[in-house]
This record gives sequence, structure tokens and C-alpha cells, in this order.
Amino acid sequence: MAKLTELFSEFNVAAERLEGAYKVLQEKVERANLSYGFGPLVGRTDGMKEIYEIIRAVAKSRASVLVYGESGTGKELVSRAIHYESNCKDKPFISINCAAISEGLLESELFGHEKGAFTGALEKRKGKFELANGGTLLLDEISEMGLMLQAKLLRVLQEFRFFRVGGSEEIKVDVRIIATTNLNPKEAIEKQKLREDLFYRLNVVSVNIPPLRERKEDIPVLAAYFLRKYSTFYNKQVNSISTDALKILLNYNWPGNVRELENVIERAVILNSSPSVLTSHLNLSNNSSEVQLNGLIGLSLEEIEKKVIIETLKKNNGNRTNTAKMLKVSIRTIREKIRQYKKDGEIID
Ligand SMILES: Nc1ncnc2c1ncn2[C@@H]1O[C@H](COP(=O)(O)OP(=O)(O)OP(=O)(O)O)[C@@H](O)[C@H]1O
Ligand SMILES: [Mg+2]
Repeated sequence: MAKLTELFSEFNVAAERLEGAYKVLQEKVERANLSYGFGPLVGRTDGMKEIYEIIRAVAKSRASVLVYGESGTGKELVSRAIHYESNCKDKPFISINCAAISEGLLESELFGHEKGAFTGALEKRKGKFELANGGTLLLDEISEMGLMLQAKLLRVLQEFRFFRVGGSEEIKVDVRIIATTNLNPKEAIEKQKLREDLFYRLNVVSVNIPPLRERKEDIPVLAAYFLRKYSTFYNKQVNSISTDALKILLNYNWPGNVRELENVIERAVILNSSPSVLTSHLNLSNNSSEVQLNGLIGLSLEEIEKKVIIETLKKNNGNRTNTAKMLKVSIRTIREKIRQYKKDGEIID
């Protein structure tokens, strides 16, 4: 009996030690992850680390979250990370792209409908709110939703009670809402793309993902990550990026953000038959009109033309012939434009 007790306590000690070792190992893994990224998110600049902090903090609550940032910055990935860090990770994550569904259909997609509610409603159907019950509903591109439906959505978000289209039975759900937009929310409100009251309801916590050109230090780790991903996927032995190619990646402005970088690396892996990504595989040009695209939104066509011509002139150190060639217009057009801009005081010789 004494022997058995002794064995048992030895076993306990060993088990404790094992548990301790496991915790240390787990911490190490977590730290390694932290220095590289967070969950599915890669990047270790301060801007991204702040986002990881917000995700970690907000995940444990049921608060609504508004994720915004330019196209391709990772809004959907951040939304997923919030869900999978939460206590509801085993419950559904349902997303709906408000830009892809016509205004008329969106309401029944969100709230469901009863049989015969409208022409074509042949069967009763649950909406995304019901499907997401207990989990997370991602309202992607919320600023593309019509203002009337935004008002209805706001009412539902007060109590999480609603009726299916054509229904009389009130349905109650418990859903965390994450909404995304690629507009700046304040601008979206000004342009009447987003109702202010809905904004305040959604914006309990907000995550603003910076564009890639403002966190260029993340480019090498992201590029390495995509390189590994696609060389495994395509079963290729491409495992490095040449210094010159990396320089190009760092100097480019990435108007399409991380999605564009991912596509560039995928294409480089497909086209490559050497072990390293070279400049010739990249096919990137820092064309000024492409670079400045995000800064052009809201300008008139005339202002855009002026901006592009002046930028291209600067790029060519004032050389009109090269500017005309680059913009595929006659040199006369360029001369005339310059004369006009000088008159307006836009160019000073
Ligand atoms: N930090 C990141 N780490 C790894 N992959 C990323 C990161 N950010 C974005 N991606 C990848 O880039 C692509 C675009 O990301 P995502 O769809 O989340 O962007 P988005 O902001 O929702 O874009 P859009 O506004 O066009 O809908 C995806 O393939 C995603 O996996
Ligand atoms: Mg998206």
C-alpha cells in the first residue's frame, strides 16, 4: 500500500512537471507567434501590434466592432481573428457582403423569409442573423447597404429581435456583429453612405488597419510568408527573394495593399523556375497614377488629370517628351497643359 502511495505521488510530481513544461512550451510558441504575427495575421510593426492588442481585448466580449481600412488591408482576416479568439469560436462565423447582394434581396438574406413572402419565396428560409446565432455575423462593406435597410438594421441591433420577411413570429438571437468598410467612417457619414446613428451602434470598438505603404517594415515578413505558402501550394522550390527584388517590393506603394502583395508573390512563384524570386518575376512599376490612386478619390476628372501630369513631370525631372511618352499623349498636349497650369499658378518655372 505504502509502495502504491509512493508511486502515486511520484506520478503526481511527474505530471506536474510535464504540465509545467507544457506551459513553458506554450508560452514560447505564443511569444514566437507574437514576434511574427497573431493567429492568421502576419506583421510585427507597431501598427499591427496595436491591432493584435485590440483583437485580444475585444474578442472576450460580445461588443460590436467596426473594422475599416483600404481595400486589401486584411479587414476580413481581422474579423475572423476576433471570432476565433473569442469564447464563441466553436459557434458559427457567418459573413454577408452587402455590396454583392441587391438591395431587394439583402433584407431577406439578413432576416430570412417565410414561404410565399414574395414572388419566388417558395420555401421558408432562415437569414444570416439566425444562422449566426451564438456566434459572429460579419456585415462586410456595410457602407454599401442602402440607408433604409441601415435604419432597419439599427432597430434590430438595439434588441436583437426581428421578424422574418413576411413573418409574424418574433425571433430573438444572440449574435456578435462585426462590420467593415473601406471608407473612412467619418467620410462615409458625410457622403451619406453610412447612417451616423448606425455608426455609433457599430463603433463600440473600432479597428483601423493602416495601408501597407504605411507599414513597409511588414513587407519582408509578409513576402516570406506568401512565398512559403505558394511554393508549398504549387509544389515549387522557390525559397528566397533576391536583394534587388526585395528593394522593389519595399519601394512600391501597394495601392492594393496586402492582397496585391500576395498576388505578386503568387505570380512570381508560378512563373519561376529558379530557387529565388528575381526582379524579372515581379512585373511591378511604380506608375504614378497607380500609386496615387487612393489620393484621387473625390477629385474631379480635371483635377485628377492635373495631378497625374504634374506627378509624371516630376518623376521625369521636367522632361516633357518622356512625360508625354509615359502618359501616351502628344507632346503638344503636355505643353498646352503646362502653359495652363503655369497660368493657374500650379507650376512655377
Ligand atoms: N496581415 C496579414 N497577414 C497575412 N495575410 C494577410 C494579411 N492581411 C491581408 N492578408 C491577405 O490578403 C488578402 C486580402 O485580405 P482581406 O480579404 O482580409 O482584405 P479586405 O480588407 O477585407 O479587402 P477588401 O476591402 O477588398 O474586401 C487575403 O488573402 C488575406 O489572407
Ligand atoms: Mg473584405
